Amino acid sequence: MSTLSTPRLKIAVLGSGSGSNCQSIIDAIRDGQLHAEIVCIISDVEDAFILERARQHDLPAQYVSAAPFKTKLDADAEQAYIKIMQDAGAEVIVLAGFMRIIKKGLLQAFDGRILNIHPSLLPSFPGLHAWKQALNYGVKVTGCTVHFVDEGTDTGPIIIQRSVPVLDDDTAESLHARIQVQEHLAYTEALRYMVDKCLHKEGRRVTVCTP
Ligand code: GRF
Repeated sequence: MSTLSTPRLKIAVLGSGSGSNCQSIIDAIRDGQLHAEIVCIISDVEDAFILERARQHDLPAQYVSAAPFKTKLDADAEQAYIKIMQDAGAEVIVLAGFMRIIKKGLLQAFDGRILNIHPSLLPSFPGLHAWKQALNYGVKVTGCTVHFVDEGTDTGPIIIQRSVPVLDDDTAESLHARIQVQEHLAYTEALRYMVDKCLHKEGRRVTVCTP
């Protein structure tokens, strides 16, 4: 269990968009719900709102181009991201709407310490617009998943899932909005496990343990 005298978990956040998940982590830290600090925020999108949120909260943040690829970091960008996060002392990387696949270099530099959140109950509906996939498929329950990142797309070991009912009158927007409410709870909960407890991985199974 963390106390005021235990060091705060140092988190790096990578995001490409609005950063509402990043905001929920900022709020949890501010409210004393999460014994952590955000040591850097990086975006691959110059005008992403996540950077504006960082500025509003006086958090170190920067845009780092990932060009020329659309779905991954090129080798130089990957090294740049790693260096910024290591220099900032990051212990854990939180992917919060980061729209690029994480490759070996970054995975090795932060081995077992990269988390992602996905807007479905994995392994259903990996990839883009998972809430639309769920709606179009006709499932009655969907949700969100926080998982460790591995080399696949949304395939890593699952830490937490929260379910969300699909309502008859749902639109893609209304469903996504309700999933996001659960995402914000799930991400801080997963990080609290890392801070206050510990996570034990055996094969694909992740369990919460007592340190
Ligand atoms: C979330 O729905 C998350 O599940 C997905 O990207 C979205 C990011 O939203 N990976 P935000 O930028 O945190 O608001």
